Amino acid sequence: MSEMPTLPPRATNQAPGGRWESEASIGRVSGEGVDLSHKVILYLDGITVSFDGFKALDDLTLTIDAGELRCIIGPNGAGKTTMMDVITGKTRPDSGTAFFGQTMDLTRMTEPRIANAGIGRKFQKPTVFENHTVFENFALAMKADKRVRHSLFATSRAGERDRIAAMLTRVRLDRHADRPAGLLSHGQKQWLEIGMLLMQAPRLLLLDEPVAGMTDEETERTAELFIGLAGDHSLVVVEHDMRFVEALGGKVTVLCEGAVLAEGDLATVRADPRVIEVYLGR
Ligand SMILES: Nc1ncnc2c1ncn2[C@@H]1O[C@H](COP(=O)(O)OP(=O)(O)O)[C@@H](O)[C@H]1O
Ligand SMILES: [Mg+2]
Repeated sequence: MSEMPTLPPRATNQAPGGRWESEASIGRVSGEGVDLSHKVILYLDGITVSFDGFKALDDLTLTIDAGELRCIIGPNGAGKTTMMDVITGKTRPDSGTAFFGQTMDLTRMTEPRIANAGIGRKFQKPTVFENHTVFENFALAMKADKRVRHSLFATSRAGERDRIAAMLTRVRLDRHADRPAGLLSHGQKQWLEIGMLLMQAPRLLLLDEPVAGMTDEETERTAELFIGLAGDHSLVVVEHDMRFVEALGGKVTVLCEGAVLAEGDLATVRADPRVIEVYLGR
């Protein structure tokens, strides 16, 4: 038996730059690239947004830790939705800095790039494909995910089904997989949309009034779901329902007139006279 000749190393492997650089950039869009070395996932500093001279956000400074579950409360018009618009790139601040992890400057990224980097947003109204089944909705969410589509590890049919099955259980829709989404209750539609967001494995989830219109039972289940997601994900939840905020049990930030009025556990901010005056005392 003759010995197999060893191939000489290919010239391209030895060339500096090029090849390795492009592999590194594939890694960066995977959403794993967020630098959490300082345990901070979101850092807003001095953010100001003006609409015709009116400051919707006025020197807003806020930090969210990796894995944290943070509630944002505050009166209507406080700037809660505008803050989410800044984080997701929909609105550019007039001044201030916004960082995702240590390295990603959100004020310089487009909306799709921010989503791809791992920030998922749930708007107040559920937006699911009503004529498709719950299962199909999840499959569509997965297909819409560029990171899965372009992944070096092509997902198999079986792998896809497993991922969807796990998500169905996680958002309590396993018994509804084959029902058209349009037939779900309002709360179930919200869970479906949250599950669809989770299919894209966001590191940071922004949720605007997720339990509005839910029954008490659905609200309790949603609190359990969010508590289970914290740690693996960071969550920023805007909510008026104080029982829900209490059930979540995390740190609470009170926004008022575009800035932080108070921050701490719910009991502490509830006892703050300024918070009672502008918000809770109504
Ligand atoms: N596109 C816009 N043009 C003009 N004013 C806006 C716009 N978006 C928000 N605002 C104003 O900015 C303030 C903050 O709004 P918003 O962020 O929606 O508050 P919240 O979500 O806390 O109720 C409000 O007074 C609102 O009317
Ligand atoms: Mg709002």
